[in-house]
Amino acid sequence: MHVPVLLQETLAALDLKPGDKVLDCTFGRGGHTREFLKFVGPHGLVIGLDVDRAALKAVEEFKDEPAFRFARCNFRHLDSALALADVRQVNKVFFDFGVSSPQLDSSWRGFSYLHEAKLDMRMDERQRESAYEVVNAYAEAKLAEILWEYGEERWSKRIAAFIVEARANRPIETTQELVSVIKAAIPKEVRDKEDQHPARRTFQALRIAVNDELNSLKEALPKAVQALARGGRLACISFHSLEDRAVKQFMVESAKGCICPPAIPQCVCQVNPTLRLLSRKVIAPAASAIEANPRCRSARLRAAERL
Ligand SMILES: C[S@@+](CC[C@H](N)C(=O)[O-])C[C@H]1O[C@@H](n2cnc3c(N)ncnc32)[C@H](O)[C@@H]1O
Repeated sequence: MHVPVLLQETLAALDLKPGDKVLDCTFGRGGHTREFLKFVGPHGLVIGLDVDRAALKAVEEFKDEPAFRFARCNFRHLDSALALADVRQVNKVFFDFGVSSPQLDSSWRGFSYLHEAKLDMRMDERQRESAYEVVNAYAEAKLAEILWEYGEERWSKRIAAFIVEARANRPIETTQELVSVIKAAIPKEVRDKEDQHPARRTFQALRIAVNDELNSLKEALPKAVQALARGGRLACISFHSLEDRAVKQFMVESAKGCICPPAIPQCVCQVNPTLRLLSRKVIAPAASAIEANPRCRSARLRAAERL
């Protein structure tokens, strides 16, 4: 049984009411959606979005649910998805960023450094560029930049150089070929001291780059606020510091409003705040939840209310 991450905390943050219209931007297997439907009741609506074709299988399970609709699209286009569904405003918007466990565990999709697979990592298989193109065609400097910016990998330059050297002989085709190159690039004494897999940061970086994850998130958040009715709520679960930082920055700036430089004594921009933070502190899973599902260890929830 799939237990949605930070479920009780999310339900508390969203404060769902009968009749609410909810936008679940990351439907996945519908774990959160299933719970949202219980609260909104027959007069409410839950719209699920997901780019991944695999989500359609879970959508099947909701086919007899009149309060549910689904659109296969990137959440960066959530405004168009709502317009197509003829919904002007919603009361709650929810994001559970990143990849799902089934995506990680589907060995053939290439998301995991633990399974041998073709280099792919596309959440949306209609997209042309996969991890294969990034690894085999990007310039060394660009590769190093991706590994540093999206993976915070301190061996980024060396790994990029080793990738370029390896692919000069023949393309790097699979996850395990890439893992070998990464292992060769990071000195053994460093690898031995780390408790995490040496390829973890590189794989995270490549996945973020292939799916343009941070830009999608940054485009989607203002649209989510725009879609919310006054008093509506926005809740976001992040899985790594880059996502959480982007969410935090967006929420804090939206709650501040004014964008005048600090040197100006009186506000001239007249930008009003659009959000009220529900808590300054980020919400993390309880120790018992981490014990039951170690993968939720890095989940972080932030929530805000539309002003
Ligand atoms: C962590 S899972 C969500 C799990 C879901 N909350 C559940 O309980 O089943 C994230 C999902 O978001 C989807 N996703 C990631 N980025 C997306 C984007 N930019 N647009 C739409 N869906 C996206 C992924 O395909 C994946 O299915």
